[in-house]
Amino acid sequence: MLKVQKINKTYYSTNEKIEALKNASFNISQGEMLAIVGPSGSGKTTLVNIIAGFLLPDSGSVFINDVNLSELSSRERAGMRGNFIGYIAQDYLLIDSDTAYQNIQIPLQYSGKYKKKEHKNQIGQIAKVLGIEKLLHKKTNKLSGGERQRVAIARAIVNNQELILADEPTGALDIDNRNNVVEILRDLQENHNKTVVIITHDLEVANMCDRIIELHGGEIIRDEEIVRT
Ligand SMILES: Nc1ncnc2c1ncn2[C@@H]1O[C@H](COP(=O)(O)OP(=O)(O)OP(=O)(O)O)[C@@H](O)[C@H]1O
Ligand SMILES: [Mg+2]
Repeated sequence: MLKVQKINKTYYSTNEKIEALKNASFNISQGEMLAIVGPSGSGKTTLVNIIAGFLLPDSGSVFINDVNLSELSSRERAGMRGNFIGYIAQDYLLIDSDTAYQNIQIPLQYSGKYKKKEHKNQIGQIAKVLGIEKLLHKKTNKLSGGERQRVAIARAIVNNQELILADEPTGALDIDNRNNVVEILRDLQENHNKTVVIITHDLEVANMCDRIIELHGGEIIRDEEIVRT
């Protein structure tokens, strides 16, 4: 479903040239759950931003279901992202003055994949999967950290996006909430046929996935399945 081919990305700042990604290649199949790990500055967020089409590589290509992202206009890329990718940002980026329901509805409003009269039903179904039915009318600044996570995950999948990209979704969490988030993502992969990519510093989180890709200085230095004994 996703092919990353020989991606290079260099940032130029005043007196520095930073090679954030060097010749990175890998494929992801539908239904995989994989972790991208690596030290701070190794290129993880740059890679996810390129997969999500927020950022274009200097060379190389990303194919999503055989569509080359570099050949789309920025508007078409945004459309592709809205329909296909559920992005969970590190700090969740919820709109605190809005209710959980309004936050979850945002991708539906942008994409037009579901008719307006279907929104309530769609949001209700997702809320049920994530156990947040009772929170939908609450403003998100009145929710606990764990509840906010689930609202952010609901927003990332409400449009029936196939690929979930989560950038450090467990970075700021205690162990219980961390395991909870990984379990929710695992459930979406196992029972709802989603493909899940988790960017993480945390090797324990990575080891809960099925495959680990490790970046170092912009290069992929490891790409292997996790063998469970
Ligand atoms: N917009 C930018 N302009 C210049 N340099 C950048 C920019 N974004 C990232 N970089 C640099 O590119 C490298 C890779 O950054 P990136 O954010 O992809 O790393 P990361 O692996 O996600 O790190 P972290 O774990 O700290 O989030 C770093 O050296 C960073 O300083
Ligand atoms: Mg990052």
